[in-house]
Amino acid sequence: MKNIVILISGRGSNMQALLTADANYRIAAVISNRADAGGLAFAQAHGIPTAVVAHRDHPDRDSFDAALAQVVDSFQPDFVILAGFMRILTSYFVMHYQGRLINIHPSLLPSYTGLHTHARALQDGVKIHGCTVHFVTPDLDHGPIIIQAAIPVLADDTEHTLSARVLHEEHRVFPQAVRWLCAGQIELSKDGKVVNRSRNQAGLALISPALE
Ligand code: GAR
Repeated sequence: MKNIVILISGRGSNMQALLTADANYRIAAVISNRADAGGLAFAQAHGIPTAVVAHRDHPDRDSFDAALAQVVDSFQPDFVILAGFMRILTSYFVMHYQGRLINIHPSLLPSYTGLHTHARALQDGVKIHGCTVHFVTPDLDHGPIIIQAAIPVLADDTEHTLSARVLHEEHRVFPQAVRWLCAGQIELSKDGKVVNRSRNQAGLALISPALE
């Protein structure tokens, strides 16, 4: 069984989804850059080792990332999973885990990289929004895409309602992506493409608003 280490910064609902999903992986540790991350208690309550590497204790990104990599590596992960980890990682860190580091992002990348994705989608009036799981590369939020979920944006959506529906999909696609990874069904090819040996068919079309 493959070992994964999960990095979080906050409530950790995606980490919880990974912990409660049907798993072909073992969660070796949950690590946070913030001691007050809500998800740490949930992990501890489930007997998962936790650690905190506080970014505030480091003068710059290089020293934080070096310390973080040291702690991550002490758990000997096959894969490192960013589940709401809200620090930008240096190329050093990303290249150290090349092909073994994935992230979940709350938008249909490459649209809405960065922060406040739901508010910006609402502001733009897009009719379809969603989430993306991707391999991490040094180019922030632009790594090769593993899986996406798309949902309709409703006329009366607020940032709160839209983010809740996207999060619901995050909790479905993220465990799937990690399972594929741990089963060796997906990998990052040398030319930076995602090879998926598992499923090669499309899901259903999402038309929003619906046709009458
Ligand atoms: C999730 O929506 C995740 O996609 C997002 O932070 C939230 C964390 O929630 N990640 C990013 O924005 C990364 N750029 P969680 O702590 O409940 O999983």
